[in-house]
Amino acid sequence: MTRMRSLLFVPGDSEKKLAKSEGIPADVLILDLEDSVAQSHKVRAREMVCEYLSQRDRTSSKQLWVRMNSIGHAEAGADLSAIMPARPDGIMLPKTRSPADLELLGRHIGTYEAEHEIKVGSTRILPVATETPQSLFTLGDYVQSNQRLAGLTWGAEDLSAAIGAISSRDENGDWTDPYRLVRSLCLFGAHAAGVAAIDTLYPDFRDSNGLEQSCAEARRDGFSGKLAIHPGQVEVINRAFTPSEAELEQARRIVALFEANPDAGTLALDGAMLDLPHLVQARKTLSMAEGDES
Ligand code: COA
Ligand code: MG
Repeated sequence: MTRMRSLLFVPGDSEKKLAKSEGIPADVLILDLEDSVAQSHKVRAREMVCEYLSQRDRTSSKQLWVRMNSIGHAEAGADLSAIMPARPDGIMLPKTRSPADLELLGRHIGTYEAEHEIKVGSTRILPVATETPQSLFTLGDYVQSNQRLAGLTWGAEDLSAAIGAISSRDENGDWTDPYRLVRSLCLFGAHAAGVAAIDTLYPDFRDSNGLEQSCAEARRDGFSGKLAIHPGQVEVINRAFTPSEAELEQARRIVALFEANPDAGTLALDGAMLDLPHLVQARKTLSMAEGDES
């Protein structure tokens, strides 16, 4: 089972951060070729990321993904042709405009898989699905996507730049209405497609209380993982998206009660009413603990 609780960005042109990333307990490392790499370093970053991938420990459970440049960007073709032979577990696609971008990328990836004897269909894709204004109106359409779709995640910065917004946060640091909407659309779009909803990053990487709160809100709402930008964020995120022993125990009790009463639609447990949604939720909690977060 593949877990995607914490997904840490590692700038692809930083020898130091690439070296450091090996010891960080992130479920996924996202080796970045896009916004954290200056145009003048794009070629070098690609070489470094390829080398990192080719030297990886294939027995490690840590997934290695690459964030390529967006479809239509001058570097996108070179990114894919360099990266695919090095067999990343997945590709993060930024600035996705619609599921059509995902389909197009999937076809290109399929060609490289066949050419390099990689199981066709095995390379996953995670779109950053809210970075362009038009993308917001297609978030319900990932329902039809192919098996490569690993989840949906969202970002506020490129979107606010695209619309000329002064800020995506209010004076208390909370999302403004437009970005609360975007976050919700991503959440429901992912669940409609039956894939993981991954929350966006928490930028203030020294504020672990703020991160903890942001994770708790995401978990409460139905996200199953979160992007990270700094090693110090990873353990907080992993903890937040791992059901506690008390939650698991309660979920097991609910499942057992329904199994013991197969003809009952509603049941009582500890003075509270339970019906089918509680059973569905309990099963989700148990599968989250097993690493199947979708
Ligand atoms: N991945 C791997 N290692 C990282 C890292 C990352 N994302 N961010 C920091 N580190 C390393 C540092 O190199 C440093 O290593 P050292 O102990 O060997 O010196 C250690 O972790 C502590 O880092 P720190 O000094 O606290 O942070 P910094 O000032 O070096 O870096 C950032 C701060 C934000 C520049 C850095 O965390 C970063 O580059 N994050 C990723 C940004 C990114 O990819 N953005 C794109 C997505 S929006
Ligand atoms: Mg960006």
